[in-house]
Amino acid sequence: MKLLKRRCNKYHLGFILILTIGITFLTKKSIIGQTKAQFPDISHKFQPFVQLRNTSFDYREETRKMNEAQVEMDDPRLIELIRNYWIEPPSKEPYNLKKDLEDYSAGQTPYVDSRINHKLNGFFIEAGAYDGESSSTSLFFEKYRKWNGLLVEPDPRHYFTIQSKHRKAYRINACLSTKTYPIQVTFNIGHGLREQMGRIHETKEAGEWIQKENIGFNSITVQCFPLYSLLLAMRINHVDFFTLDVEGEELHVLQTIPFDKINIGMLTVEYIHSSEEQITSFLEEKGYRKMIKMRTPGCADIIFRKNDVPFTGYE
Ligand SMILES: *[C@@H]1O[C@H](CO)[C@@H](O)[C@H](O)[C@H]1NC(C)=O
Repeated sequence: MKLLKRRCNKYHLGFILILTIGITFLTKKSIIGQTKAQFPDISHKFQPFVQLRNTSFDYREETRKMNEAQVEMDDPRLIELIRNYWIEPPSKEPYNLKKDLEDYSAGQTPYVDSRINHKLNGFFIEAGAYDGESSSTSLFFEKYRKWNGLLVEPDPRHYFTIQSKHRKAYRINACLSTKTYPIQVTFNIGHGLREQMGRIHETKEAGEWIQKENIGFNSITVQCFPLYSLLLAMRINHVDFFTLDVEGEELHVLQTIPFDKINIGMLTVEYIHSSEEQITSFLEEKGYRKMIKMRTPGCADIIFRKNDVPFTGYE
C-alpha cells in the first residue's frame, strides 16, 4: 500500500512537470508567433547583399523618370535601383578617423546603448550623417557593438568626407523624402560654422528658417528617397536605432514611415527646428514613449523608445 502511494505521487509529479513545460512552451511559441505575424515579410537580421551594376545603364535618368511618375515607395523597380546603384557598401580599409574616441555623439549614444541592453549586431540609420565622425550617433555602435547601418547624407561635400573615413556602414548620397515617393529637391547647403545646417528648401517655411538662422542661400539639387524604400533596398524591416536630424523636416519624414511594416526600436529626433509637440504626439500615437529631452552643446534631441522593446534595466 505504501509502495503504491509513493508511485502514485511520483506519477503525479511527473505529470505536473510535463504540463508546466508544455504550458511554458506553448506560451513562448505564441509570443514568437505574434511578432512574426506583425512583420512577416523580411528577416530581422541584416544580410550583406550583392549589387548588380550595368555600367551602360543611366540610373540617374531612370531615377528622374521615377520621380516624375511618383512611383510608390515599395515599387520593385525603385527598390532595385536604390539597392544596385545608389547605396554604397561599407569600406574594407582601416578607419581613417580624426579622433579615437568611445563616444563621438553629443550624449545620445551612451543613453541609447544602456537602454537597449548594450545590444550587439544591431542596425542603425543616421540621417543626416554629416562628416561621419563629428557628433556621430552611430560610430560607437559600429565600432564597439558591431552594428551595421546606413548613413544618409545629401550634401556632397560632407558625403565625400564620410567616404574618406572608411566607415564600416552602408551609405547613400541622398536625402530622406518628405513624401511617400522619390523626389528631387532644392537643397540649401550651409557654410562655415553653419556647414552642418543643410536643409531641403521647398517650402516658404524652410526659406524663412534659412533666413532666420542666417545660413545664406546656396542651392543644389538633391535626390530624396522615402526611408521605407531605403530599408526595402537593404532588405531589412528592423532598425534598432534611428537618428533623425534633418534641420526642420523631421515630422514630414516621420509621416512617410509605414510603422506597421517596419519596426524601429529607438529614435533620436532633433526638435528645435520644428514642433516638439507635434513630433512627440505623432510618435506617441505610433506606440513610442518619450524617454528624455536632451539639450547639450551640439544636441537638441528627444529620444523615443517603442513601448514593446524588450528591456530590463534603466528606465
Ligand atoms: C545594360 O543597360 C543597357 C542600357 O540600358 C541595356 O541596353 C542592356 O541590355 C543592359 N545589359 C544588361 C546585361 O542588362
